[in-house]
Amino acid sequence: MEILRTDGLSKIFGSGRLEVRALEDISFSVSPGELIALLGPSGSGKTTLLLCISLILDPTVGTIVFDGDTIYKNGWIGIDMRRLRREKIGFVFQTPNLIPFLTVRENVLFPLELVGITGKAVEHRVMELLEYMEIADRRYFLPALLSGGEQQRVSIARALANRPKLIMADEPTAALDTERGKKVMSLLKKIAGEQQTAVIAVTHDVRMVEGFDRIYMLQDGRMNNT
Ligand SMILES: Nc1ncnc2c1ncn2[C@@H]1O[C@H](COP(=O)(O)OP(=O)(O)OP(=O)(O)O)[C@@H](O)[C@H]1O
Ligand SMILES: [Mg+2]
Repeated sequence: MEILRTDGLSKIFGSGRLEVRALEDISFSVSPGELIALLGPSGSGKTTLLLCISLILDPTVGTIVFDGDTIYKNGWIGIDMRRLRREKIGFVFQTPNLIPFLTVRENVLFPLELVGITGKAVEHRVMELLEYMEIADRRYFLPALLSGGEQQRVSIARALANRPKLIMADEPTAALDTERGKKVMSLLKKIAGEQQTAVIAVTHDVRMVEGFDRIYMLQDGRMNNT
């Protein structure tokens, strides 16, 4: 069964002369363990789509089914959005946006404490995540001392902390050179393959989508499957 499906999802910003049809009639799905790329030129609607399906932005019409529940049908349907987001979705941003005055370890620990995991269990989980992202040796460093690629790996560890069913990454490699970008993408691939987490990654760069299960192209808010 898929983890996420949209049917006829549209998003219109503004109205009248200022109207922007950012998404038009988007229907697609993602299954557990699938690694999906969203490609498309600037302004094609990639970020808008990610924000709608991560319950951050309100769509205008359409349907979103998440983990078996219809959560949006021309409006949100009786759900605790913040809770769903916190428990089932992980987000990786274009820039790592780690908390600058917390160490690497503390940055990953923070979302776990938010959901009430403490003590030995939390320490164990943080180490496991940092080792998984091959960044454990930097755990007592502040983010500013890490390279962009290393920071991005910490932010992926943070996104994974609560074992989300879906990870969304908006241009996670945009701020990185090709080699570090590929490393980040290969770690996302590993997550999808080993943890059965669905991963949706937005990118401009076709060189980054090697090994992805499916590629969706956006153009002027419309999607065609390839
Ligand atoms: N809050 C907003 N208000 C009005 N228009 C918006 C808003 N956010 C996005 N748009 C418009 O919606 C369209 C899609 O924007 P979006 O940010 O999703 O593109 P994108 O594919 O992520 O582009 P990029 O590759 O540059 O990040 C663009 O025309 C943009 O100007
Ligand atoms: Mg964008």
